Amino acid sequence: MSELILGIETSCDETAAAVVEDGVRVRSNVVHSQVALHERWRGVVPEVASRSHTQRILPIIEQALADAGLRAEQLAGIAVTHRPGMVGCLLVGMSAAKALSWLYDIPLLGCDHVQAHIHAAFLADPSMPTPALALIASGGHTALWLVHAPGRTERLGTTRDDAAGEALDKGAALLGLAYPGGPAIEQAASGGDARRFDLPRSLLGPDSLDFSFSGVKTALLYLLRGPGALAAPPVLSAEDVRDYAACYQQAVVDVLVTKLARAVQRLPVRALCIGGGVARNLLLRQQIAAHPQLQGLHLVLPPGELCADNGAMVAALGSLLLRQGQHSGLDLDATATAQTGSKAAVR
Ligand code: KG4
Ligand code: ZN
Repeated sequence: MSELILGIETSCDETAAAVVEDGVRVRSNVVHSQVALHERWRGVVPEVASRSHTQRILPIIEQALADAGLRAEQLAGIAVTHRPGMVGCLLVGMSAAKALSWLYDIPLLGCDHVQAHIHAAFLADPSMPTPALALIASGGHTALWLVHAPGRTERLGTTRDDAAGEALDKGAALLGLAYPGGPAIEQAASGGDARRFDLPRSLLGPDSLDFSFSGVKTALLYLLRGPGALAAPPVLSAEDVRDYAACYQQAVVDVLVTKLARAVQRLPVRALCIGGGVARNLLLRQQIAAHPQLQGLHLVLPPGELCADNGAMVAALGSLLLRQGQHSGLDLDATATAQTGSKAAVR
C-alpha cells in the first residue's frame, strides 16, 4: 500500500501544503504566496505574515487533501517545517500539524526547512546519485551542502552576511524594480549589457566555500549614488536599468557558480543539485549547465515550484523521517535557526 504524507510549510511568506506518495510522487501541491501583502515594505513583516498564515492554513490543507482525493485519516504521516524561520509563522503550521496528528493519531514529523530544500532534489529526480553537492540559495539562506545520502548532509559553507536572494531583493530596490527583486532583476536584465558596469565578485580568498553578498550590494549603491551614497538617486533610463540589472545578476550568479566549481574540484561528488527561490534563476541554471568544471556531473535542476518554498519538499523529507522512525512528539518546538549539519540524522 502506498504511503501518503502531508507536508505543511509556513516558515516565511508562503502558506503551503502538499501530499506526496511514497516520498517521490507529488499528489497535490498548494501554495499561497503573501507577496502582495509584503511588497509595500519590500520585505516580509513577521506579524503580518503569521496573521495571514492563520487565516489561510486550514483552507490550504483542505485543498491539498482534496486535490489528492484523500481524507486526513488516510495519511501515514504529517510533516511540518519547525525550523528555521520566523517563530510566529512556524507556530501556525506546527499548530495545525499537531492538531491533525493528535486528532487522527498520525505520526508528526518535524522537518528542517533547508534540509527540505535539499531533499527536493530527490523528489525531482529519485535517481540522483550520491555523494552530491547542493546549493541552496533563497531570500534567507545561501549555503553549499555535501549530501552523503538522502537525509545525511554536511554544510560546507554559508553566507557570512546577506543571502543571495536578499542581495537581489535589495539591489532591485536600489534600481526601483518590483519586489521580490530576484525575478524583477531577471526580467529587467533581459537584453542588457552584463559588462557595462564593474561590480565585485567577493570570493573570500582562494579556499573559502563561504559566501558574501553585502559588498556587491554596496558597490551597486555607490555606483548609483557615488562614494558614501552622498548623491541623490539618479534618474535612470530604461537602458541603464537593463544594464545595471544585467551586471548585478551576473555578479551574483558568477559567485554562486564559482563556488560550486570550487567545491566540485575538491570533493568526489557525482551529482549537483540546486534549491531555494534563487535556483529558479535562468542565468544561474544556464551557467551551471554550461560550466566546463561541472560537466560530467548528474545535474538536478528541479522545476521552479519545487525550488521555491512548498509543502511537497517537506512531505518528501517527512517520508524519509517516517521510514527512519524519526517521529516528533507533540512537544516539538519552533526554532528560528537552521541546523548546521545532519551527518548522523536529519533532525
Ligand atoms: O526559497 P524562497 O521562495 O523563500 C525563502 O526561503 O527565502 O526564496 C525567495 C527568494 C527571494 O529573495 C527572491 O527574490 C528569490 O528567491 N527569487 C529569485 C527568482 N525567483 C525568486 N532570484 C533570482 N531569480 C529568480 N527567478
Ligand atoms: Zn526556502
